Amino acid sequence: MKRISDRTKERRRFLRMLAASPLIASPHLFGGPVANLLSAGGLTKGVLLDWFETFQQSDDAISSPDQAFDVLDFELAAHKALPPAHFGYLATGVDDDGTVRANREGYSRLQIRSRRLVDVENIDMSVRVFGATWSSPIMISPVSSQKAFHPEGDIAVARAARAKDHLQILSTAATSSIEDVMAARDGAVWQQLYPTNVWEVGRGIVKRAEKAGSPAIVLTVDLQEGSNRETLFRAQTVDKRDCSACHSSSYTGYARGRPKAGSGGFAQYAERKPMFDGLDLSKVTATHRANMNWEFVKRLRDTVTVKLLLKGIVTREDAQMAVEHGVDGLIVSNHGGRAEESLRPTIESLPEVIEGVAGKIPVIVDGGIRRGTDIFKALALGATAVGIGRPEAWGLAAFGQPGVEAVLEILRRELRTIMRQAGTPSADKITRSAVVTRPS
Ligand SMILES: Cc1cc2nc3c(=O)[nH]c(=O)nc-3n(C[C@H](O)[C@H](O)[C@H](O)COP(=O)(O)O)c2cc1C
Repeated sequence: MKRISDRTKERRRFLRMLAASPLIASPHLFGGPVANLLSAGGLTKGVLLDWFETFQQSDDAISSPDQAFDVLDFELAAHKALPPAHFGYLATGVDDDGTVRANREGYSRLQIRSRRLVDVENIDMSVRVFGATWSSPIMISPVSSQKAFHPEGDIAVARAARAKDHLQILSTAATSSIEDVMAARDGAVWQQLYPTNVWEVGRGIVKRAEKAGSPAIVLTVDLQEGSNRETLFRAQTVDKRDCSACHSSSYTGYARGRPKAGSGGFAQYAERKPMFDGLDLSKVTATHRANMNWEFVKRLRDTVTVKLLLKGIVTREDAQMAVEHGVDGLIVSNHGGRAEESLRPTIESLPEVIEGVAGKIPVIVDGGIRRGTDIFKALALGATAVGIGRPEAWGLAAFGQPGVEAVLEILRRELRTIMRQAGTPSADKITRSAVVTRPS
């Protein structure tokens, strides 16, 4: 039996005390109130991080999906299941991870105004997007490199999406092809697009997705090369594994020390990213193109025959421009706090984007959604649907397909509960008057 040192026991006692405290009110220490305490400077960061590290790697993580009380339980289990660098890749934001935290904090500034004496016996969570009906507004945002989290990667996610009836958006940097994912989904998925610096490569990905039957292309516009993913870089330094089989001299696009243009690095990177199969990558030096502008959107609009969405829009001005350029939908996103350290929660960007589109196209929002009440608040502010990134990847990392299914089920359950409590029997009844901003 494993022997636990007194120091470890002491630390666990301390953490349990924190967890039981009404101040903390949750065993999920990261991304929540303790993070706020840290940013307020009320506690010594080094000491607390040391405690957290112990807690995170303790045996307190759930060992099966059905033990989870909420989706944050999967974060701890994912941390336990993954090597440090892979968990670091999943967890990281940029700089101080302040935007990751802000995405969560934004939701806590909104309060719900519940109406009473409404018949809520039957709850209808369904929403319609581009003429298709989904049984809930919860979509799966694109997450790259999912085989780094579980050997079945995007295939397991697709099976979970099928089992629970959720829309899945496949990353350009997915570790499974759209054809395989759609076969596992037994239905269509949307294709996210990093167009690279070579037009023909981006176009090739679009045409392949269209041929596979994807009804929508999602162009991500919020990410430039070289974002400072410091949490990942720190995690890489403590990962003692030999990672050369997967990462040596390959173009990870996310790690330091990436090869220079023309070194052949991208081709090696792309080998593990099937959406680049069969494309001439000899001139590709970047997944994200720094010179992308509205002219590019126009050219892409003329090329894409299915729906075209932009992912990463956070302002009214850009929302208006998108409508003017014939874009079919927007995803309000800051890449889960992994692009710029704006410190602006997506839920606070949402209202101006909604104003900008003036009801002409659907708006989806992602970033920091961890509770059914978050989904409720996003719908109240005008979102048609929401996306989740890390939660599905935590479920995947911890338990594969059953983990993703459990994450989706928990969010559905929580959304159903708050819809009942708030007196909103259907998604279209969740309107602006259902929330109010917390008085400052
Ligand atoms: C590990 C990881 C990989 C991601 N990969 C992509 C990607 O390939 N394309 C993309 O548009 N967004 C990507 N994102 C951003 C997500 O689609 C989404 O916007 C974000 O995760 C939502 O925030 P959340 O993680 O707080 O739910 C990624 C996010 C994470 C955490």
